[in-house]
Amino acid sequence: MGTPTFRTAVVRTPGGPDSIEIIDVPVVDPGPREVRVRIAAAPVNPVDLAVAGGFFHGMGLIGQPDRTGLGWDFAGAVVATGRGVDLAAGTRVAGLVAGFNRDFGTYAEQLVVPASDIAVVPSGLGLVAASTVPLNGLAAAQIADLLGDAPADANRLLVTGAAGAVGGYVASLARDRGWQVTGLARAEDEEFVRGLGAGFTTHAEPGWDAVADGAVLQEWGLALVRDGGAFVGVQPGAEPATERGITVAALVVHPDGPRLGGLLARTASGELPARVHEVVPLDRVADAHRAVAKGGVRGRYVLRP
Ligand SMILES: NC(=O)c1ccc[n+]([C@@H]2O[C@H](COP(=O)([O-])OP(=O)(O)OC[C@H]3O[C@@H](n4cnc5c(N)ncnc54)[C@H](OP(=O)(O)O)[C@@H]3O)[C@@H](O)[C@H]2O)c1
Repeated sequence: MGTPTFRTAVVRTPGGPDSIEIIDVPVVDPGPREVRVRIAAAPVNPVDLAVAGGFFHGMGLIGQPDRTGLGWDFAGAVVATGRGVDLAAGTRVAGLVAGFNRDFGTYAEQLVVPASDIAVVPSGLGLVAASTVPLNGLAAAQIADLLGDAPADANRLLVTGAAGAVGGYVASLARDRGWQVTGLARAEDEEFVRGLGAGFTTHAEPGWDAVADGAVLQEWGLALVRDGGAFVGVQPGAEPATERGITVAALVVHPDGPRLGGLLARTASGELPARVHEVVPLDRVADAHRAVAKGGVRGRYVLRP
């Protein structure tokens, strides 16, 4: 019998959806404090389109000699554990792999990850819904950290792209830190944004104490911040230059299993939204990328490996 293998979607020469290939790669055993997961669901996120399109290769952030893995978050079931991990086979988990420069990703039948980067999915929460939480839930929680606690007399936060994955979570989570949130989104997204407990606008005037820029408005978003306020972007290395005494920060999301556990619990209880547009088989990954590239999709395409 040959070496066992599993299927995964990768790019060798990035060039958009048509450059995505599904290949077989050897199964790897988990090392100490690692877990091997059989992936049941892996969302398509905007960053995956940028990786497949070669954007990060062009920036010099990816230098894989053979292939680049696609996909950042996942949900599935534990199939094997390394030394020091106390999780039974079959335990339902979700997690995040971060960083651009890797030859593996979550668009795959299997994944080996550090146990500290995953969380158990609460009973009552499906794996498809759970898979949509790690990247953007943690991104929003970490944006809230960058914003910090709202000053009592300067707590007006504008969240751009509040109908998107990151923005929607920021609109919910920033309230925990005392921010009074208004979401900037398209007119048709008003009901969703108000349902998060946020104010709503389609056209923001300048003067906000802080802006969290889920819509990647960049300089235009910075211009909405009052003098001496705060701006948190989502494009590290490409954040707008500071002006008028504004504090500028950019998120670099990182895995955090314990915190993810809290976000999954809040999703299971219905406090945080879990939005799925469509579940598609891994073989249709290129179609899903093309659909997301058109814009206007609400909820994630989720791949089923
Ligand atoms: N740095 C990090 O660690 C990190 C982590 C996670 C995500 N990100 C990045 O964060 C960004 C957002 O991700 P996401 O998953 O939230 O994307 P998303 O779900 O597509 O959300 C973006 C939202 O912004 C809206 N939007 C864009 N321009 C707008 C405008 N002028 N006015 C109002 N709404 C506007 C979009 O609406 P339409 O669809 O109608 O255009 C969409 O609802 C992406 O660039 C992603 O790569 C970065």
